[in-house]
Amino acid sequence: MTLRLRTLVLGFVAMLLAGVVGGAVLVYMGFYDISAMRQHTKPVFHLLDFAMARAIDVRADAVPPGDLGEERRVRAGLAQFQRHCLQCHGAPGVAPEALAFGLTPAPANLLHAGRTWPPSEIQWVVANGVKMTGMPGWGWRLSEEEIWDLVAFVQAMPRLSPRAYAELAGSLPGTAQAAAPVPAPPQPAPDGPATRPGRVDAGRFATQQYLCATCHVIPGVVGANQHVGPPLGGIAGRAYIGGVLPNSPENMVRFLRDPQAVDPLSAMPALGLTEQDARDIAAFLFTLDKVEGK
Ligand code: HEC
Ligand code: HEC
Repeated sequence: MTLRLRTLVLGFVAMLLAGVVGGAVLVYMGFYDISAMRQHTKPVFHLLDFAMARAIDVRADAVPPGDLGEERRVRAGLAQFQRHCLQCHGAPGVAPEALAFGLTPAPANLLHAGRTWPPSEIQWVVANGVKMTGMPGWGWRLSEEEIWDLVAFVQAMPRLSPRAYAELAGSLPGTAQAAAPVPAPPQPAPDGPATRPGRVDAGRFATQQYLCATCHVIPGVVGANQHVGPPLGGIAGRAYIGGVLPNSPENMVRFLRDPQAVDPLSAMPALGLTEQDARDIAAFLFTLDKVEGK
């Protein structure tokens, strides 16, 4: 080995050691914030998201046992979905239950997977779950047939309007037609009627707590990259909210607290926002005056 090569190798080993020791010190000092109340930092979020997508991609290879569009399968899948999935993922016009609001990463809205993922990948995720996310693996509890029924339903769901979903769910024997409304978190000031004016930073934080990021592209919010609802970049300059309500701070608060009271056909579920949180979120939304990508 020449001297030059030896110096290079030694230098590399020293750097590696410094990295390992440095990492161990950071872990020991509790440096990384594991609180589920705060989203991962942007680089960590994207790394984990990419790692999950790749891990599924290289493993998913099951072949569907026949036609997943069959109505019998979709209905059987819906029954399973209501029992095991609705509480975390919600459904058209139906919000998830309270526990889902506290999960990080937030349970994805399944519209995107239903539309774009191959059936083998949905099947793999449902059967295996995803470590460190809260997504359970169902391969031990459900039969292969039942899991394919679920895949069939997840693929059918993007085509269902809130009304069509409610009708289909209501037609199943023995299932509750609609989930209970999400209970609002405790009011910040229970003894005073006066709420303070909306605060932008509090509003940005609250978008994380109400799952807004699972359905909207929101500039400045890590992980908010879904197109279930319209992108919120430029919302400050839009004339109407949801295409029907003139855009003003008061109307924004009204819409956010109960979208279906404003427009019965709205596919955005009521998410149990308090008056104060809705004001904070509205204040944040009104800072979004630029349309993303323009
Ligand atoms: C306890 C909550 C919980 C339950 C119950 C649950 N999931 Fe999940 N699910 C999650 C979380 C969290 C993720 C990961 C979110 C992410 O990063 O995409 C996830 C991811 C998924 C994904 C990948 C979607 C995507 O776009 O990344 C699919 C598909 C899925 N779940 C389907 C189901 C089905 C079907 C059921 C019922 C059999 C179910 N889940 C039950 C929490 C849950
Ligand atoms: C389950 C998915 C979902 C969640 C969660 C969700 N939205 Fe929506 N949102 C939608 C859909 C779908 C629409 C379009 C329906 C409509 O216009 O009535 C919409 C519409 C909107 C609009 C009107 C946009 C426009 O261009 O007129 C705003 C503002 C909005 N959402 C903000 C939020 C905020 C803030 C949160 C979190 C508190 C949130 N959304 C959570 C699905 C969702």
